[in-house]
Amino acid sequence: MPTVRPARPEELPAAAMVYLRSVEDRERRIGRSPGGDFGAADPDREAWRATEYEGALRDLSILHGDDPEAVWVAVAETDGRVVGMAADAVRERQWLLYFLFVDPEHQGRGIGGALLERTHARGVAAGCDVFSLTSSRDPAALTRYLALGLLPQPPTIVFGVPGDRAAFPPARWDDGLEAIPLHPGDEVALATLGDLDKAVRGVRRPRDLARWLAEGATGALLSKRETGTPAGYFLVAERSGWEPDVGRIGPVLALDEERVPDVLGRALAAAGTMARPGLAWELLVPGENRRAVPVALAVGFRPGRLQAYFSSAPIGRFDRYVPHDGDLF
Ligand SMILES: CC(C)(COP(=O)(O)OP(=O)(O)OC[C@H]1O[C@@H](n2cnc3c(N)ncnc32)[C@H](O)[C@@H]1OP(=O)(O)O)[C@@H](O)C(=O)NCCC(=O)NCCS
Repeated sequence: MPTVRPARPEELPAAAMVYLRSVEDRERRIGRSPGGDFGAADPDREAWRATEYEGALRDLSILHGDDPEAVWVAVAETDGRVVGMAADAVRERQWLLYFLFVDPEHQGRGIGGALLERTHARGVAAGCDVFSLTSSRDPAALTRYLALGLLPQPPTIVFGVPGDRAAFPPARWDDGLEAIPLHPGDEVALATLGDLDKAVRGVRRPRDLARWLAEGATGALLSKRETGTPAGYFLVAERSGWEPDVGRIGPVLALDEERVPDVLGRALAAAGTMARPGLAWELLVPGENRRAVPVALAVGFRPGRLQAYFSSAPIGRFDRYVPHDGDLF
């Protein structure tokens, strides 16, 4: 049995390579997600591999930089090769599984289970009482998550729209909202976002918000025009290094469920100012968020697939929330 231990920084490229090999093997075994997210033709294979590897390495580096014990590796005793990896993100009382991948030649021998046990124990030791993740369609992954006591929740709808079909209307003047643009380093606004996150997303996560803004996301804190009290916030961003270029809408958070269409409308209007024909857009809508669905459909978004979401308990109020992504939510 390989040794399971926290990853050393120099092992992150090998861990990213395990991710890539494992994903490619999984695609051969159980196929790609039907339809893809944007209905795009099969992407150039080498460009896709490079993007996936670099994306995994970047994410692993961020997680490891935040917390050196967030990334775990399984290392073969014979030659020290990395044959499996897992990574999590602990956000206050929430444990979020970010990666769980075993090299195809080493699968089915308990390595994935051992990695998952160690990362989960880390969450327990940190005092977490909510354990959440987005699962692949691999039956081995489903087995491991069910064995851990997590249960499937309403799936996430992965919406996409090609740039030339996106019709994002401008902000409505009569939506009763006042927008305060967000800037990195605006501690007062970020503290209010933290309060909103706590109420709806379940935890504060100031470092994630600061990083997304520093990476170039555009967003606003929205307040009710009549009372000046907070109503929600949104971020929209163009993801760099993706082929084709993709814009991401989220997080989008409304304190009251009835405000979801207005707050999402503000996010879409902001996206509309960034729109260009070559830029496709992605929007993840939790199955509970019934009010976001008609808004998404009306502006041209179409569901590419449903993403399996597992949790030990509700992570937050997903009826009024659009996540940033399927890993940190
Ligand atoms: C998911 C993954 C990490 C598991 O790692 P692993 O080392 O193969 O896992 P383990 O050997 O510890 O456990 C696999 C379990 O799945 C079960 N399993 C394997 N194939 C299965 C199948 N076709 N149907 C149902 N269960 C299956 C095994 O019986 C085993 O359960 P058991 O120990 O209770 O018998 C690995 O298979 C992998 O990398 N998959 C591709 C990448 C992926 O999708 N990762 C998950 C991302 S969310």
